[in-house]
Amino acid sequence: MRTAALAVAAMLLPASAATPSIPQDRPTTLAATPPMGWNSWNKFGCAIDENKVRHVADAIVASGMRDAGYRYVVVDDCWQNARDADGTILADTTRFPSGMRALSDYVHARGMLFGLYSDAGTKTCGGRPGSEGHEYQDARTYARWGVDYLKYDWCSTGTRNGQEAYRTMAAALAEAGAATGRPILLSICEWGTNKPWLWSPQVGQMWRTTGDIADRWNTSANGYDNGVVTIVDLNEPLWPFAGPGHWNDPDMLEVGNGHLSDIEYRSHFSLWAMMAAPLIAGNDVAAMTDATRTILTNREVIAVDQDPLGRQGHRVWRDGDRDIWTRPLTGGRRALLFFNRGATAARIAASWDQLDWPQHLRAHVRDLWAHRDLPMASGTLAADVAPHGVAMFVVTP
Ligand code: GLA
Repeated sequence: MRTAALAVAAMLLPASAATPSIPQDRPTTLAATPPMGWNSWNKFGCAIDENKVRHVADAIVASGMRDAGYRYVVVDDCWQNARDADGTILADTTRFPSGMRALSDYVHARGMLFGLYSDAGTKTCGGRPGSEGHEYQDARTYARWGVDYLKYDWCSTGTRNGQEAYRTMAAALAEAGAATGRPILLSICEWGTNKPWLWSPQVGQMWRTTGDIADRWNTSANGYDNGVVTIVDLNEPLWPFAGPGHWNDPDMLEVGNGHLSDIEYRSHFSLWAMMAAPLIAGNDVAAMTDATRTILTNREVIAVDQDPLGRQGHRVWRDGDRDIWTRPLTGGRRALLFFNRGATAARIAASWDQLDWPQHLRAHVRDLWAHRDLPMASGTLAADVAPHGVAMFVVTP
């Protein structure tokens, strides 16, 4: 009887039960609010090198982005090209002749944190060596280089179990980070394949929920190259799973990459803030326009993204091309977003019911893109919204 019960219990245990345990307090302290930073992939792809990263790091400081909260400078795929005879991962010396420790020092000297990319399979998506079978060795190498953030991808993983793979790297990073006193954030990038929102809160600080974003408004090609609106609709229903220390990641920003209008980029940025998404810029910060800088450094929108309550916002109403989104903030406040998906201007009006407020409640209204206070409101709030645009407010009772 007892043996049978044990056998059943063993069958119910997740496959990951045998993998090393991860300290439970780690996730929240590492990402109490959604991580912010920059990543090389969306703009540069594999054409990345240490000079580009240095220029971007300098520009993040000079543009005011660092002071607005962007902390992590992350080199995505293609920085690595081989392993040595002991299996130690090696940086591509033609692109990174000074080595990763020097680059990490450069970023740290500018008051920011340094991130790298790897993959849970035998090869990265760009065909470079992956970390499968080298997790502890790679984690120790990253720790030696002063790495603070690992984006961990899911190409060439065959039949590997997702939970097990990410738990193994999380445990390896926890051990390596504890040895140096420098914790390493784990950004889980398996595109939602293994429903990471169900298990990742104990494993990593953020998890991709979709296939890759592209610099386009909507539509996708086979789950890849997803437009901003396509990603929004995939990520939005997952709002209950986000919270301090563990965030849904609808992928990095395309703001400033050139194929959308500034109005559309403003919508993209605002929607990411409503969704408590990591704000990882993906443009050439060293060559951005003033309009792009203004979007990426809108501190009032960033404050919504970074609100310490850590509740992800979501859509509370949709009628054709018109959306209303709300997000609870600290102090009983609400972020309120009107989103016009359509190609013509639209009037959108929210009722206090949609904020879970009684109609008579009077509230102070702040317009986060106009940067001005509007007249006190009670019961409803309405605005005219440009095609593909948003109006975004914080309302305070
Ligand atoms: C995958 C990831 C992207 C990027 C590339 C790099 O597609 O989802 O974000 O890291 O790999 O090859």
